[in-house]
Parts: sequence; structure tokens; C-alpha cells
Amino acid sequence: MQKAKLILDKAYTIAKIDPRMYGSFIEHLGRAVYGGIYEPGHPLADEQGFRKDVIQLVRDLDVPVVRYPGGNFVSGFNWEDSVGPKELRPKRLDLAWFTTETNEVGMHEFYDWCKKANTECMYSINLGTRGAEEARDVVEYANHKGGSKFSDMRIANGKKEPLDIKLWCLGNEMDGPWQMEHKTAYEYGRRANEAAKMMKWVDPSIELVACGSSNSHMPTFGDWELTMLNECYENVDYVSLHTYYGNPTNDPASFLGSSMDLDEFIKTIVAICDTVKGKKHGKRQINLSFDEWNVWYHSREQDNEIWKQDKWGRALPLLEDIYNFEDALLVGCILNTFLRNADRVRVACLAQLVNVIAPIMTKNGGGAWAQTIYWPMKYASQYGRGQALLPVMESPVYDSKLFDGVPMADASAVLRDDGTLAVFVVNRSLTEDIELTVDLRAFGNLAVKDHVMLKNDDLKAVNTEENPNNVAPVKGPGGKVEDGVLTVKLEKLTWNMYLLG
Ligand code: AHR
Repeated sequence: MQKAKLILDKAYTIAKIDPRMYGSFIEHLGRAVYGGIYEPGHPLADEQGFRKDVIQLVRDLDVPVVRYPGGNFVSGFNWEDSVGPKELRPKRLDLAWFTTETNEVGMHEFYDWCKKANTECMYSINLGTRGAEEARDVVEYANHKGGSKFSDMRIANGKKEPLDIKLWCLGNEMDGPWQMEHKTAYEYGRRANEAAKMMKWVDPSIELVACGSSNSHMPTFGDWELTMLNECYENVDYVSLHTYYGNPTNDPASFLGSSMDLDEFIKTIVAICDTVKGKKHGKRQINLSFDEWNVWYHSREQDNEIWKQDKWGRALPLLEDIYNFEDALLVGCILNTFLRNADRVRVACLAQLVNVIAPIMTKNGGGAWAQTIYWPMKYASQYGRGQALLPVMESPVYDSKLFDGVPMADASAVLRDDGTLAVFVVNRSLTEDIELTVDLRAFGNLAVKDHVMLKNDDLKAVNTEENPNNVAPVKGPGGKVEDGVLTVKLEKLTWNMYLLG
């Protein structure tokens, strides 16, 4: 058996974890809204048409913020279409996803849904086809107390109190040619800066996310962040990062090593944010909002078929990735990576939340169930709050086609507010079990209170409506603590959470 060694110490802290690290995302795309969170006529729909079974799964996942309404969708979206009497709202062609948007669910309904799901809205504005004027107006509509054109319009539309939306995205993936009114970094940076200034003049308490690159392989990667931040550094609080991983060639060793790429991506953007700060002799630290991340590749061919058959349909079943066990292992490694970078990754959104590349699936008129990736997210969100600790790990490594030196044991640790310690460890080796010793001497007397595992002999195992618990957490054997050292056996290809207290 391989051996690995982890040292944890109360004094080795990274940062207080921002709970918004466990956010998610709902876009007007596919069946995320219509048929996902909203299905009037479903036996479990509430008086507003929201599915109560979905709300329960979201509450259990415990996501503190949900980014909305896009995504690519937002770059052609008029927020005014989504407020006021439903029967007067226009149907629009959505050029991002070639579907028809009916606007049955809009800003007020989504706000109500957030309250029911115990979360908050992170609202993205359109900086594609629109600009600073609309950005100012929508903040006035949502957050101003009353006595002005747009705040009074909100009150007339039934919300006397401000919605008080605190976190706003300045557009979406504006570096991507697929985006409506894609821009150069300079064009975007100027527009984002003017929008940001005016939005903060309306409500100085809000925080703003500027668009970083759509992914780290974009041809303008790096230059984009430097140029656009140079224009808007004084008025924004976060830079966004997006990434999706896939395993199209069935190479699990590389796929499971992808979180190494993620770590490098984060560190590069941190370096750029700090470069701009230094260059400007600035005082403000720009942090990261990793507001789209997940595995995404299973559904791509199916989507092309759907568009061939039904362009401009409503609520088409797009981006419906069915996640398997290996995807859940990678999601565990991604969450570990965020926790190890908790000093700068303040916000992160698992993209998305329901049906569209999502941890929660529904059947129209039928059930709702948790996909495999739901589980590492749920445990991280529930137990991963408090102080992120530096996991000093010595692990055996493996080489894969895409990454050399992949540590087999991938860990993060959180000193929780109640004094317990949560240690998350993935053994991503395809072949090796590992004996892991965890030096906990700095904590005094600790014992294993709980050990939760995800394991399955089949990397491709999935959950379905008929078999929703095929990949689900089980109780693990735990481990013993002797002289302040915890010894556990990490079975190959397992995700584990140890709770110590
Ligand atoms: O999450 C799906 C899409 O991925 C989003 O609309 C877009 O921002 C990204 O390219």
C-alpha cells in the first residue's frame, strides 16, 4: 500500500472561508428555469408554480448565492421584459441558445424563489447589447427604496421593500466571439468601468464582478485580464473565472488530474490582479469570483441534434449532462482546490443548479433527484465553513497523458466554527490504496466523529430517477487517532470526509 502524510495545524490558516464559495447558477437556458425550478401544474408545484421537491434539494445543498439570469443569455436580455404583469411580458428570441424566452419567470419571481430556497440572488447585467444606462436603471429598480422612476416601478409591481441584491456581474464572457456584442478587452474594460461607477453611485453597498476570460485557453487569456482591469480596477471587486472540464477520450487519470490546471489558473489570475494593483499603487485587493465551474461534455452531441430538430423551441432539454462517479471525484478535487485558495477565491458558482449541467435533475411531471456531483458539493457546503487550513501534504504521485506529478491524495481542511475539524480527501489513484497519516498534534485530543465516503466500483456509474442512490454517500470505517496522529486507509478512487472533534 502507498503511504501519504498530511500535517495540519491551527496556526497554518489560509483564510476565513467566504460561504459564497458554495454558490451556484441558474440561467434562462434549457430546462433550468422552465421544467426545473418552475413547473406550474406539477403535483408538487407551489402557488407560484415552483417545484417544492426541487426547493428541498436546493435547501439541502445549502447554496448561499445563485447567479442569475445568465450566462450567455444575459448578453441579449432586457431586464424590463421580465418585470410587471406576466401577461404583458414579451416573448423573445434568445440568440444565445436559439430558444424562445417567454419571461414567465422574471426578477420578482426569481427573488421569491431565492427566499424559498434559502439563498440570495447574484444578478448579472447585460453589457453585451446594453450598457451603463441600463446597468444604472436596474440597480435603481432593485435596490433603491422608492421615490424615483424605477424604484417606484418596482413598488407598483408589488415589491415595496428593495430587493437589496448585493452582488452583481458586469456582463458575461465578453471575451468570447460567441457572445452577443463580444468586445475587445479595452472596449469591455471601459464599458464595465462606466457601468460600475454609475451602479455604485446608485447603491454604494453593492459588490461588482468584472468578466475575466471565458477559460484559460482563450487566445487573449492574461492580456484580457490585464487590459480590462487596467480600465476598471478602481470600481470593481472581483474578476470572474470560468472553467469546464471533460473526459471525451476516456482518460480518467488525466481527467482526475484536471484540478492541477485549475490551481494554476487561479494563481495566474491572482498574479494579474496583484500586478494591476501594484502598477496603480492601489490599495484595493481584487479577489476572484469563480462563477462558472463544473464538468461539461456529456451532452454536447445531443444538443446539436436538439437544435437540428427544434430551433426556437421553449425549454428544450439542453446541456443535460448525466454525471457519473468519476465526475463526482473531480468535483471533490475542485472543491479542495478552492478551499486551498480560499484567501482569494471568495465566490464560486457550480454551473449550473437544475437540469442544465447540474447536480439536480428533474423529469417534467415526474421526480427530482441528486446527480453524483451533488454529494461532494453538499458536504463541502455543509461542513466546509470556518477557517481554511493549509494542508501540508506529502503524497505519492502519478503521471498521466496531460499532467505529470499528480498527487494521488488530494486534500483540504477546515477548522469549523464549532471547533470541529473537517478533512476532505480524494484518493484519485486508479490503482493504489493509500495509508494516510494526519498529524493533528496541534489540536489536542481529537477523535473521528464521522467518516463519509463516496465509492463505487464503476467510474461510469450514474444516478437516475429509478435508481437515485446508485452513487450516494456511505458511512466509512473512520480511523484511529494515537498520540495526535490519525491513521486512515484511503481506498483507491474514493472521496472522503473525516469529521474530527
Ligand atoms: O453555463 C453554460 C454556459 O457556459 C454559460 O451560459 C456561459 O457563460 C458559458 O459559456
